[in-house]
Amino acid sequence: MKQIWITRYGGPETLELREAALAPPAAGEVTVAVKAVGINFADLMARKGLYPDAPKPPCVVGYEVAGKVEALGPGVEPRWRDKEVFALTRFGGYSDKVNLPANQLFEMPSRLTFQEAAAIPVNYLTAYQLVVVMGGLRAGESVLIHNAGGGVGLAALQLARHIGAVTLGTASPSKHAFLKGQGLDHAIDYRRKDWFGQVMAATQGRGVDLILDPIGGPMWRKNYRLLRPTGRLGAFGVSSATESRGPRLLSLLKIGLSTPWFNMISLMNGNHGVFGVNLGHMWGEGEKIAGWMAAILAGVKEGWLKPRVDKSFPFAQSGEAHRYIEERRNTGKVLLTP
Ligand SMILES: NC(=O)c1ccc[n+]([C@@H]2O[C@H](COP(=O)([O-])OP(=O)(O)OC[C@H]3O[C@@H](n4cnc5c(N)ncnc54)[C@H](OP(=O)(O)O)[C@@H]3O)[C@@H](O)[C@H]2O)c1
Repeated sequence: MKQIWITRYGGPETLELREAALAPPAAGEVTVAVKAVGINFADLMARKGLYPDAPKPPCVVGYEVAGKVEALGPGVEPRWRDKEVFALTRFGGYSDKVNLPANQLFEMPSRLTFQEAAAIPVNYLTAYQLVVVMGGLRAGESVLIHNAGGGVGLAALQLARHIGAVTLGTASPSKHAFLKGQGLDHAIDYRRKDWFGQVMAATQGRGVDLILDPIGGPMWRKNYRLLRPTGRLGAFGVSSATESRGPRLLSLLKIGLSTPWFNMISLMNGNHGVFGVNLGHMWGEGEKIAGWMAAILAGVKEGWLKPRVDKSFPFAQSGEAHRYIEERRNTGKVLLTP
């Protein structure tokens, strides 16, 4: 099989296409012939040595694939034979064949391409957990979605619009017109000094009901100050760690030092909530994930949830694919195709 390896911590040039042998699927596993692989920001962080959950290089990352079941291991229900599927993978997804537990498979909805299906698991489950499950967004409330043009951001926007919330989103200015076309009410450039004031102005000085923050570090503190009474701040990433040019341990230390501590009395008196989301730590909650995915697929079927694929790169250009995201050029999902 062909795989993309992170050979050492560093830039996109550290990604290397290699041949490897694939063992037959173990009990409870299937082999999937992969047609599309979702790239996630976590993969870029893993490559830079900034993602503690990832295996140490040399390693193969990749959290999601879509493809066709090619072989069944002992004990797997025969109904999976030859099925078109998409799935979460606990690393190892950057491969043209992958063995994974059958209980991580979802059947491909007929209206989606393999590429669209590979764009669903991480982005939509994370957004669902943030917006619906833990964020409890309600009609008429406001939501501030940072990185609104990324995979998670667009999924969150679609969920928030369906709920009937007022949507504010930050993104690079080149994406604002597209985001407005997707129904975003207020597009804001978060690299402008006055972004905070723009959010306050857009909410008539009241603040925001739900804020989704994958940037982390000092942003968490700023966002907390934007919460309206009963407002909730959902933390789900630290992309700011990738901006520091120094050694990786220094980047992690800087993030640690700039992370706010929350006081229960202040939370109580402010009527505020703070929560965290890490889909990569939900492997023991298969039933919840299956329920969320059923709701997501119902939205896909009804047409109000629609994964947006920005660009697919062949395996041989995986470095370019990572660079494309690093340069903030993507609007929606970036994929690899074997
Ligand atoms: N906790 C979880 O379970 C979970 C799951 C999925 C993703 N996440 C986090 O959510 C965030 C977005 O993920 P995604 O997969 O949706 O992203 P993505 O589709 O890969 O989008 C990347 C976009 O993020 C923005 N960005 C912000 N900071 C950046 C930086 N330092 N370098 C490059 N781009 C940066 C850029 O757009 P603009 O400049 O236009 O905003 C870029 O185009 C990441 O921080 C990721 O780690 C967390």
